[in-house]
Amino acid sequence: TWTMANYAKTAIEDIRNTVGDGKVLLALSGGVDSSVAAALISKAVGSQLTCIFVDHGLMRKNEGDEVEAAFKDSGMHFIRVDAEERFLSKLAGLEEPEAKRKTIGEEFIRVFEDEGRKIGSVDFLAQGTIYPDVIESGAGDAAVIKSHHNVGGLPAVVDFKGLIEPLRNLFKDEVRELGSELGLADYLVWRQPFPGPGLAIRVMGDITKDKLDILRDADWIFREEIANAGLDRSINQYFAVLTNTRTVGVMGDFRTYDYTLALRGVTTTDFMTADWARIPYEVLDKISSRIVNEVQHINRIVYDITSKPPATIEWE
Ligand code: XMP
Repeated sequence: TWTMANYAKTAIEDIRNTVGDGKVLLALSGGVDSSVAAALISKAVGSQLTCIFVDHGLMRKNEGDEVEAAFKDSGMHFIRVDAEERFLSKLAGLEEPEAKRKTIGEEFIRVFEDEGRKIGSVDFLAQGTIYPDVIESGAGDAAVIKSHHNVGGLPAVVDFKGLIEPLRNLFKDEVRELGSELGLADYLVWRQPFPGPGLAIRVMGDITKDKLDILRDADWIFREEIANAGLDRSINQYFAVLTNTRTVGVMGDFRTYDYTLALRGVTTTDFMTADWARIPYEVLDKISSRIVNEVQHINRIVYDITSKPPATIEWE
């Protein structure tokens, strides 16, 4: 009979046979797919696997530390590259969404290569490609609406013999099931999608560390209250966006002139189309008052009530 436990067992044997005593390198983003791929390959070949986690400084609050905590003691070689300054200096002054995306994609490959070179010879590159990725990239001529940095070519590594993609035949729900089977923590297995360019495409206009920190604090409160309301698995993706618009407000006896924050929440099965989530008013109310009270420089909050199409899920 087909069970996920059997699937995992077979996949682990296959990886062992392919890899032999070779070395495997994986770019770990902390997303569901690369995390499950890492856990699987690590079960198969242990310390022959090296995972490089490029922390570009564009992650959500605490996320980098969570990823590190999950993998640091797992038997694989885990390398966290603190590349925040590298990314922020490349991004400085860029306002246009595609320019930001391309810059991040290119810098990501550069950082990965620099780290790969330090490791020396690598026999296999591993990727968390899942079945829908395989179909989509085969589709060919769909218009590019947003360039996705995670499907933009492979970094050059030394002595590269082949690609390992152990999730190629699985759908997302199966990947999550496999992750649980392998003992990955729920917060990794049930993580909502997070774009490769990270918060860079959720801070409208030019990106500064200050703006990123404001957004991180607000987004954290949003996520916390959605979880408190028990909605974290029924809303498929939800996040805050720091708009580049400032408006006038009043705080005590003083005039404020601060940022407008947008909240986005969607329900969807495939992320190709999506409906805006009907978050109950009282939940929105709690989120709004907590954010304006707890996060400086936000004095107005709006909820995005557009579906995809015509809007996209992300704002950039
Ligand atoms: P849009 O905004 O195009 O997003 O409706 C659809 C889904 O894709 C995610 N997204 C990305 N994921 N790299 C990714 O890995 C990217 O560059 C990227 N851009 C958007 C988005 O979060 C949503 O889940």
